[in-house]
Amino acid sequence: MNIAVFASGRGSNFQAILSAIHHGQLPAAVRLVVSNKSTAGALEIARAHQIPAFHRAPSQYQSADAYVADLTSLLEEHGVDFIALAGYLKQLPAALVSRFRNRIVNIHPALLPAFGGMGMYGVHVHEAVLAAGVKVSGATVHLVDEEYDRGPILLQRTVEVLPDDTPETLAARVLKIEHVIYPEALAAFAEGRVRIEGRKAWIQPHR
Ligand code: GRF
Repeated sequence: MNIAVFASGRGSNFQAILSAIHHGQLPAAVRLVVSNKSTAGALEIARAHQIPAFHRAPSQYQSADAYVADLTSLLEEHGVDFIALAGYLKQLPAALVSRFRNRIVNIHPALLPAFGGMGMYGVHVHEAVLAAGVKVSGATVHLVDEEYDRGPILLQRTVEVLPDDTPETLAARVLKIEHVIYPEALAAFAEGRVRIEGRKAWIQPHR
């Protein structure tokens, strides 16, 4: 499986994907990294691993079509057949979503379908979780479709919410399990163990 990672930030999930590949837990390769932010840590991590890294933002283009055409040719040139969003804060153009239908995943730092959607990113997610007073949170890997944080859920894991949690302490606890379940979900794809039927998706166990 030839993965393109799209990331806007520090890239710790991207790093976890690279580690899983390195340790033989994920039979795949990251062929390129795309970021809408030139300063993203994810781009630096890519360069340090000699992985092609590109800064691409819609504002660099005359039209939405030109943006999509450029992203599409980048993905094709690098033989990409799978996209992993890892802290990517832009919506992927609909044309790419349909071209890579069921081959795009995202990781979200809460238990979807709660605490997702527009504006629910970064610390805002954990603030909302704490404000709601729920006792568990977690991380979700889901397929990406045209709607924000709404594609079929593939894998979730929970963490406890503790009475003295701040958004930062909760974020750190959730991030640890993100780094476990994202490579796991990608490995399931790479090994052909993902079943998708309409709005539902499952990971089948190893035989
Ligand atoms: C993670 O919390 C992820 O769930 C969310 O954005 C954050 C990215 O962190 N979508 P990193 O850049 O992978 O460290």
